[in-house]
Amino acid sequence: MQKKFAKKIIEKPRRQKSRDKYSRLRGMKDILFDEYKYWDIVVKKATDLAAVYSYKRIETPILERLDLYERATGKDTDIVSKEMYSFIDKSGDRVAIRPEITPGLVRAYIEHGMFNLPQPVKMFAFGPAFRHEKPQSGRYRQFTQFDLEIFGEESPIADVQLILIAYNFFSGLQINVQIQINSIGCKECRQEYVKKLVEFYKERGKRTKLCIDCKKRFLKNPLRLLDCKEDVCIEVREDAPQIIDFLCDACKDHFIKVLEYLDEMDIPYNLNPFLVRGLDYYNRTVFEVWSQKEEDDDEKNPARQSALGAGGRYDDLVEFMGGRPTPACGFGIGVERVVMKIKEKNIPIKEDEDFIFLAQLGDQSRRKMMKLFEEMNRSGFKVRQAFTKDSLKAQLEEANKIKARYTLILGQKELMDGTILIRDMESGTQEVVDYKKINSELNKRLNREEKQ
Ligand code: HAM
Repeated sequence: MQKKFAKKIIEKPRRQKSRDKYSRLRGMKDILFDEYKYWDIVVKKATDLAAVYSYKRIETPILERLDLYERATGKDTDIVSKEMYSFIDKSGDRVAIRPEITPGLVRAYIEHGMFNLPQPVKMFAFGPAFRHEKPQSGRYRQFTQFDLEIFGEESPIADVQLILIAYNFFSGLQINVQIQINSIGCKECRQEYVKKLVEFYKERGKRTKLCIDCKKRFLKNPLRLLDCKEDVCIEVREDAPQIIDFLCDACKDHFIKVLEYLDEMDIPYNLNPFLVRGLDYYNRTVFEVWSQKEEDDDEKNPARQSALGAGGRYDDLVEFMGGRPTPACGFGIGVERVVMKIKEKNIPIKEDEDFIFLAQLGDQSRRKMMKLFEEMNRSGFKVRQAFTKDSLKAQLEEANKIKARYTLILGQKELMDGTILIRDMESGTQEVVDYKKINSELNKRLNREEKQ
């Protein structure tokens, strides 16, 4: 035993390989080349929908004052108290890397006096957010949100339109989702409910059964006991009073209208009395978008599937942050989770099929093809090349790899004859055509209108 111990001390510390030393941080992800084809369609779908519903793009800094999130997201929320990356910068300012996009947009709305614009003001942002969470599949420490917000609109139509956008977004990507929805009322009616909830948890030792986090939540934010993901807490909450029974008339009326519109628009939803959301600013409608239950999902606890998107109404936040009273609502989608879903389900993506590959043999042909490449690119053809390669075989391999539809081949003979070969990459057939007629020949084959 002693011998072993001595050996351990004498052993030189293992040198860390520089490859490991400089590996990326836990919970951070590189997005490599091929994955971008998924990102591109997600981003396109999101921005197209934002345009359809008249949302304008906005970007705010990733670094903001720490107290923005402490006040807006909430000092006692997990996001701010446990997960946020914050530090004191070189000027001594307390700053934070954004854990979510909404507070920055609220700040921008107030700071740029957007209450002077015709209301409602609809905006969307797209970018990274950071949370020091325990990494797992679909949960990263840097992730990307597509975020939409409406400021200055109290009508339930705004809530419904947001849910509709979320629903259209996912169905457009062929992802089956279910909307989980609840109302958490306003400050007044929630107060009454929370009192009843606390009484419920105090009865017959239920409180002692809760997980460690919920024991703390019981004191700080009892509402959050309802959406804990631990089995013990799920069991205890089963008979808890439901907030829906405590809504005041105005909140009840608002929520009923939201549900009526959803019914009318044929949007399937699930009334979920345990949905309360983990951020402080919400009131009235809250919702999450879950992927439709699959065979391998956790039966007992559907909430364990991570939400693809989430949002709700936050009518008091703008005023709470120093602005004029402004009702508002919004939602955020986790782009990595959407991309994961598309890949997981093998959802077919329409790839660009009309690439024209330009191949050459010999230096003189290469020069001519390099010029042709630029001309064709300007005329709107989707051209590709591998001009640094000499062998035709290697060039055709490249053309196959990118699934080119046609390859144009220019060798010595064609150069002398003023012709060029058009090779159909699927059938392998080749045809000699007049070099001057390349564009019209290709347009004919691609059923493309000729560009003037
Ligand atoms: P959230 O529920 O914290 O809400 O996040 C919204 C979405 O971001 C989640 O549904 C999920 O898809 C994605 N997400 C969150 N954390 C991670 C993570 N660690 N890794 C990968 N994806 C993640 C908000 O952030 C609110 N600002 C939404 C909102 C906008 N409410 C009103 N307006």
